[in-house]
Amino acid sequence: MLEVTGLVVRYGSIEAVRDCDLTFDTGTITAILGANGAGKSSLMKAISGLVPAAAGTIRIDGEDITALHAHRRARLGISHALEGRRLFHSMSVDENLRVAWEFRHRGNDFKTASDRVFERFPMLATRRKTPAGLLSGGQQQMVILSAALIHEPRYLLLDEPSLGLAPVIVQQIFAAISAVCRDSGTTIILSEHVAALALSVAHQAYVLKQGKVVRKGAASALAVDASLSAAYLGG
Ligand SMILES: Nc1ncnc2c1ncn2[C@@H]1O[C@H](COP(=O)(O)OP(=O)(O)OP(=O)(O)O)[C@@H](O)[C@H]1O
Ligand SMILES: [Mg+2]
Repeated sequence: MLEVTGLVVRYGSIEAVRDCDLTFDTGTITAILGANGAGKSSLMKAISGLVPAAAGTIRIDGEDITALHAHRRARLGISHALEGRRLFHSMSVDENLRVAWEFRHRGNDFKTASDRVFERFPMLATRRKTPAGLLSGGQQQMVILSAALIHEPRYLLLDEPSLGLAPVIVQQIFAAISAVCRDSGTTIILSEHVAALALSVAHQAYVLKQGKVVRKGAASALAVDASLSAAYLGG
């Protein structure tokens, strides 16, 4: 279980995350919802160690990881796919996966690990040698997911996986995310603007507004809450 208590993230005088308490049960998908600037990315970066916590505690199975550097957290099984589909565009799919692989070596070899992720995304397997920049947006998102999955993380943080993708592609991506949780028991935290989509795959959700948790609950309950969108998500 991943637990966040009293978390504060600051950039100079800006308080991006303000005294947030969140719990992520093992093997579940949690959606982090909120309008632009609500603090979703900052929260996720604090969990993976890319920004420091100005206050508060982050624990994995009771162990305090708040002071650990990002690479130590990665070794504990936290994998973070950042916002904005960051890929090496001139490098092939295989090479992008290898970069992710080299970042943190594990027991078995690259071929075994990459074959395993290609089983999940057969469409990518036929494009292994293609430069990532020539792929469609949906295929690029699959490469991002594959790079995040290549180490079989225990915790997978996905920042706006649907950004800029057509609805039909988003459905495929979200189906893949659900499958990862179901097959591997991975604990997944995903941030989204589009509440309905995220709530359709999530077990629970938190809504952030101006850095604070303003709503939390079962995804199924929040999905039918008509007030949610108008009040917190900017439309
Ligand atoms: N590196 C930074 N330096 C200064 N301020 C920042 C930085 N990153 C984010 N902020 C500010 O922190 C607040 C929260 O930003 P954050 O990116 O976490 O929100 P978000 O919910 O992910 O937004 P979006 O939906 O647009 O991605 C905003 O006011 C933002 O301007
Ligand atoms: Mg963001």
